[in-house]
Amino acid sequence: MTVFPASDPHGKAVAGRTSYLVLHNTAEVVTPDADGTRVLRYPKGAVVFRDGRVLEVGPGAELLRRHGDARPISANGRLVTPGLVDCHTHMIFAGHRALEFQRRLAGESYAAIAAGGGGIRATVAATGAERDDVLEKGLAARLERWRANGCTTVEVKSGYGLTPSGELRLLELMRAAVARVPVRVVRTALLLHALPEAYQGRRETYLAEMRERTLPEIVRRDFASAVDAFCDPVAFTVDESRALLAAAKALGLAVRVHADQTKRSGGAVLAAELGAASADHLECASEEDWRALAAAGTVGVLLPAAALTLGQKLPRAKLLRASGARVAVATDFNPGTAPAQSLLECAALAARQFGLTAEETLLAVTWNAAKALGLEAQVGHLNPGAWGDAVAWECESLEELPYWMPAVRPDCVFIRGADLALPAVERRVWP
Ligand code: NIG
Ligand code: FE
Repeated sequence: MTVFPASDPHGKAVAGRTSYLVLHNTAEVVTPDADGTRVLRYPKGAVVFRDGRVLEVGPGAELLRRHGDARPISANGRLVTPGLVDCHTHMIFAGHRALEFQRRLAGESYAAIAAGGGGIRATVAATGAERDDVLEKGLAARLERWRANGCTTVEVKSGYGLTPSGELRLLELMRAAVARVPVRVVRTALLLHALPEAYQGRRETYLAEMRERTLPEIVRRDFASAVDAFCDPVAFTVDESRALLAAAKALGLAVRVHADQTKRSGGAVLAAELGAASADHLECASEEDWRALAAAGTVGVLLPAAALTLGQKLPRAKLLRASGARVAVATDFNPGTAPAQSLLECAALAARQFGLTAEETLLAVTWNAAKALGLEAQVGHLNPGAWGDAVAWECESLEELPYWMPAVRPDCVFIRGADLALPAVERRVWP
């Protein structure tokens, strides 16, 4: 990140002021508490940022008085929340599948389209044919869109490369793209998504290569901090997924599972067994599965856009609450089942589909989503010590967040205590 030369007195003065600021004149500041169990609400509250982190959150008048040296920034009477966390996306791909969507609406099944060469493999072909720089810039542009929609932390999975070399290519482009944007990005290698054309009839060879060659290469080149597998009758079995994910875990990587999406098939149980950071989808998971996730401390990630697109039934909030599991909501942004570009829009859908309260919805896209990424100490809340990632929304109360459709827009987005709408010279405050 650019820093001021020590000899630039103007720069030093501005940097000094912009690294200590108080965001005040809010309608309310709303944040999960530090352990993500309750939602704290501060009517007319304020947040103090110092050196990129939250120094204090509390009543506005008091904080303004006690932090007289901080640069005051007015939230114009808006609602302020932590920056949102989208903990499940597949946003590096080329093309789209809008025609396939029409075919599905006309009655063709997802499985039949996939069997005929469409589905995931169609996107793999389009992505394979696209230039590196286009994919890299395209991913950076998508991350900018997510930021503009209020997401300050985003998980990005590979998965449309499929072959070992295709996946390594996407992971390398992901690393390059995230350096272009201020959004915080967690990179996941989705190594078991579909069997590539080139490995038809050689399933064992493919699995062994992914496990024995690709995984160590990912660690060696620091390409990802987590590994994911699509554990489903239409993709990979529980045993195949376990072998890869256990190897990833042994190498120090976090693991996630695309679990119980098209059929209840043991994915959530596997995630719990491995102590996975998250089990995602879960459209067909049972109450017992949810309890297993709760016992393991694995976050259950709901993907309402995918469920809606595929016309699937979803669990009710009552079941989720009774299980005691942590519930997150994510976009699952991908060209096949979830062309969903706003996390808050997905949260509004989740509130309706699952019956989540406004507070549960906020937790699902902040603290719980951060926990799914292993970042809950620093991200997904505005308690002292957290990164200064916050959004002032074009509304006044927490209840409006899941209410409006299309979703409420951010008025301004802070990352590491810096308002990115400020002139560039004033926002060079990231460490
Ligand atoms: O998360 N479930 C597997 N993968 C994606 C869909 C992939 C596609 O259709 O391109 C998902 O829904
Ligand atoms: Fe997914």
